Amino acid sequence: MPEPFISDEGADAGRQLGWLKRLLPWIPIGAALAYPWTLRLFHEAIVAQPQSVVPAIWLILAFALPLSCLVSAWRCARRSGDAPPVVRRLAFVALAAPPLFVSTGVVSSLVHSPLPDLWTWSIFWLVLGIGAAVASSKGQSRPPGAMTGRLRVVHGISALAILLFVAFHLTNHLFGLFGPVIHAQVMAIGRLVYRSRFVEPVFVAILLFQVASGFKLAWRWSARRLDVAGVLQVGSGAYLAAFILTHLNSAFVSARWVHGIPTDWAWATGAPEGLLMDAWNIRLLPHYALGVFFVIAHVFCGLRTVLLAHGVRSSIANQVWACGLLGAGGVSLLITAALCGLRI
Ligand code: HEM
Repeated sequence: MPEPFISDEGADAGRQLGWLKRLLPWIPIGAALAYPWTLRLFHEAIVAQPQSVVPAIWLILAFALPLSCLVSAWRCARRSGDAPPVVRRLAFVALAAPPLFVSTGVVSSLVHSPLPDLWTWSIFWLVLGIGAAVASSKGQSRPPGAMTGRLRVVHGISALAILLFVAFHLTNHLFGLFGPVIHAQVMAIGRLVYRSRFVEPVFVAILLFQVASGFKLAWRWSARRLDVAGVLQVGSGAYLAAFILTHLNSAFVSARWVHGIPTDWAWATGAPEGLLMDAWNIRLLPHYALGVFFVIAHVFCGLRTVLLAHGVRSSIANQVWACGLLGAGGVSLLITAALCGLRI
């Protein structure tokens, strides 16, 4: 006997919605699974036909796949009832595919893994997808917890210390446009401070605190309704957490401690092969480019929140934010071009 008040059409629509919801976690998982293939296809295309547009198309796709996860997260986060938090969180993790793929390669090499990177990568995402699908099929989780105001303030204050280093570090990489010698001269000045016996361990501790506190904040925020700026704030934070851990592991553990490689411009640019022509190094390109973009974007998302909290008109706060994002894109483009060999 048909249930009262539920027409066959309504039941069909409900069933379709159920299927759609079950499919949701697989959209970011699909993007993450496809990501390394776009890099491989880029490499094959640039070796075979360096003058054609085909390599550019694969490279654009390599950037578009993780960025599409930002759109997935936004679609899930517009209304809190739309998708369980696990699906949004999964989209934020998949946005961090570029640093996570670099880590997969570096850690696989450090532990002498017998599995090729692509296998490890695929197993990781399939397990994550199955876990997320099971969790999301269990329906909505607990209501979001209260926002920890004090943690936000401390996260913001330690960000200021990190910002000093990042401002120098990115300016240093912009000097790469004038060649490796000038880049090294500028880096030598910075190293006197950030590589000093006292500063370096304190700075690494601050970075780890930033990642841990950011993780806690992102966990809470990702269970809430978010606007575009909120999605970019949480998404860029998720990317940066993965980027910082990957970058520190590559520089400190893999390069300096294990292989005794100096962490200079040659190391960053994968010399002598370079970033573009080497099958492994190409993964560093989206990793670095989006790292630079998101670190600046994250700061401007935070600044927008502070401006709004201090009563600044939303139109002005949004203009400052939009200028910051434009600037982030410009700086990222210039540093990426320098890393790929552009000189002025
Ligand atoms: C294009 C992007 C980037 C490139 C090519 C790059 C490259 C490098 C290089 C070559 C070093 C070694 C520095 C040295 O030996 O003195 C380094 C260290 C470091 N980078 Fe980056 N970096 C990039 C972006 C970032 C960003 C966005 C952050 C921050 C979120 C960051 C954080 C760090 C930290 C914390 C260290 C360790 C500093 C130390 O030696 O104590 N990097 N990076």
